[in-house]
Amino acid sequence: MPEDKFNVSKSVAFINSPVAQDVYVLCPPDFFSGKLFMQALKDRKSSHSLNSCDISEIQLSSLLWAANGVNRNIANSNGSGMRTAPSVKNFQEIEVYVFILSGIYQYDASSHQLKLLRAGDYRKDCGMQPFFAEVPLALCLVANFSRMGKFDEKKRNFYSGTDAGYVSQNIYLYCASEGLATTACGLIDRKHLHQLLFLNNAKAMLSHPVGGL
Ligand SMILES: Cc1cc2nc3c(=O)[nH]c(=O)nc-3n(C[C@H](O)[C@H](O)[C@H](O)COP(=O)(O)O)c2cc1C
Repeated sequence: MPEDKFNVSKSVAFINSPVAQDVYVLCPPDFFSGKLFMQALKDRKSSHSLNSCDISEIQLSSLLWAANGVNRNIANSNGSGMRTAPSVKNFQEIEVYVFILSGIYQYDASSHQLKLLRAGDYRKDCGMQPFFAEVPLALCLVANFSRMGKFDEKKRNFYSGTDAGYVSQNIYLYCASEGLATTACGLIDRKHLHQLLFLNNAKAMLSHPVGGL
């Protein structure tokens, strides 16, 4: 890796900056770091004491890609690419929102960019447990029902729940692989999150604080 690229990807400047950016182009994920798959499974767990820690840009990039990034561009993917997490009928309805010091961003998997939704530090609003105020970043998994075609409410709720679970497990395994702490949190203030994220015909499914072990 060229030296300037190395410095950018190891940088913690973006996550630690209080200044929001309208669009943030993530560096490519690192496909060569982390533990062996079986070791990551062995280490996967829900952590209920999460600490502050430095998360580099390449870890943020890799975490989001692992969660629900584009891993295949094939003919029938309508140009938007296929994902690391499966979804019913390839609806790709699970969207990932990123809460960091400078603001709330939406992860755009196709371009591997973060798009600013709201400036300001709302990390503690991502969940209801105290560790959300300690961690450098938190993710909220949202089911965008407008992507789910003609599914009735029962089907929509069942499949968005399963699909959020796949993304959640990807987050767990990436964190286990990198020695980071996380837990899936269903205990979230959905009404508040829906307002904060300007959600319409969508539901906040799970939040994931991400910090140090
Ligand atoms: C759908 C779901 C929702 C959860 N919600 C919470 C939560 O709101 N708060 C929390 O501290 N842990 C939450 N957990 C974590 C579970 O308590 C944890 O997975 C369980 O105790 C088993 O521990 P393990 O993940 O370390 O195997 C949730 C887990 C799942 C799968």
